[in-house]
Amino acid sequence: MSGKTVHIKSFGCQMNKLDTTLVNSALKDSGFALTDRVKEADVVLINTCSVREHAEQRVISHLGHLQHIKKSRPDIVVGVIGCMAQRLGNKLLQHDAVDIVCGPAQIPQLTKLITQTLKQNQETISVTEKIRKGTDESQALALEDFESAYGTHDKQIPGQAYVRIMRGCDNFCSYCIVPYVRGPEVSRPPEAIIEQIKKLAEAGIKQVTLIGQKANSYKYKSGDKTYCLADLLRTACDIEGIEWIRFVTSYPSEKFFEEILQAMADLPKVCNYLHMPAQSGSDKILRAMNRHYTAAQYLEMLYKARDIVSEIAIAGDFIVGFPGETDNDFEATVDLVKKARYKNCFIFKYSPRHDTIADKRLADDIPLEVKKKRNIDLLAIQEEISGQLSAEYLDKKVKVLVEGLSKKPHLDSAQSNGNPQLIGRTETDYIVVFNGSQSLSGQFAQVKITKTSPLTLFARLM
Ligand code: SAH
Ligand code: SF4
Ligand code: F3S
Repeated sequence: MSGKTVHIKSFGCQMNKLDTTLVNSALKDSGFALTDRVKEADVVLINTCSVREHAEQRVISHLGHLQHIKKSRPDIVVGVIGCMAQRLGNKLLQHDAVDIVCGPAQIPQLTKLITQTLKQNQETISVTEKIRKGTDESQALALEDFESAYGTHDKQIPGQAYVRIMRGCDNFCSYCIVPYVRGPEVSRPPEAIIEQIKKLAEAGIKQVTLIGQKANSYKYKSGDKTYCLADLLRTACDIEGIEWIRFVTSYPSEKFFEEILQAMADLPKVCNYLHMPAQSGSDKILRAMNRHYTAAQYLEMLYKARDIVSEIAIAGDFIVGFPGETDNDFEATVDLVKKARYKNCFIFKYSPRHDTIADKRLADDIPLEVKKKRNIDLLAIQEEISGQLSAEYLDKKVKVLVEGLSKKPHLDSAQSNGNPQLIGRTETDYIVVFNGSQSLSGQFAQVKITKTSPLTLFARLM
């Protein structure tokens, strides 16, 4: 629709960010112009996340802000897309600010919904009726076509792109909303994924990150052969122009585990990085979370990963304050974190999600103050470990893929030679800050580490 401008803001995980870039490309293709400024936009889209209460509250407060803007500009169209749109459906449409509600499986139709709303000035909703039954076949085909057509433009960070290998999740961890908003687990056809990576390589992409809620469970049957993640990694490595390949997230499971790690060890292009959330170190809590491993089994897998890939960096996720988590359970988590020696950890306070098994069966009985304290304590323990691990990089020469300008001023500007401060990442996912020309964005650079902190390495260009 020529002449109309769209602003889109993403609140969620990599899945959501990828959906945002797909939607952006489709809208541009239909003649919409994109803008970074809400004030200039005819259409404002919010791509939402339901994983914790806090994520939803941020969206609600943003909608409040948009409602205010709408008082002076009543013709502005506001669309809510993503996981919250699927979860709340009509309830969201009742919000004064909202004109369009569109679920994650309906994004191929979003351009049409927006055009209709702009023309006819009426509210519209499109979500999956019975999400656990999955999308119908025509919808599934439309999603796959949409992904193949627009999944080749992703350049949020210069030189890098996400490629979805799986949709949905069937794991039903008892606390988690994802299976109820993203639907059943579906692995995409390997040919479609590889074709997409080839196109990205032709467009100058150097690093692809394969994404799925359980990327390591990727499984696609075609004729007599069943493809797993290791097969995808091997084929992707043959694509000229692609230099680094990552995948997230890994669910701790023995299935395919050694094969994938062996591929990581054998293939230089596969980054030595594993994001494998443990969630808790207490077997009692792991059982209540419906995670299918014990702390000992988890550690065994982690040690095996270090054995097979000697330079591997491992990141984890934990939930503190899950129902029934005693001091002893929390101590077991602390113990696991100390043994695992993660590069970094994402730590979350348990947030009950409507409709999940944990919410239906277990009372949210850990006081907020206790959740907060456990969160702070665990972060402090992890920070010490992160500090020790990053200190090992001091004086080392490393290769980084440059992302662009660093927002926080870290470095002494007297030593910058007039160059701005850049941010890059190592193969092992360490953030490195150094002074250099902005033209390096999207390129690889060799740097020498001059100073370290728990989460950031500082360096100079070599
Ligand atoms: N599929 C990925 C992660 C999905 S959500 C995986 O299984 O590893 C990202 C993280 O959010 C999870 O790893 C978990 O630590 C956290 N999380 C999910 N649901 C949550 C809830 N109800 N409360 C707090 N944290 C939650
Ligand atoms: Fe949620 Fe568990 Fe699936 Fe991850 S594996 S998305 S935590 S249900
Ligand atoms: Fe991602 Fe949040 Fe949805 S974590 S899949 S955007 S619920």
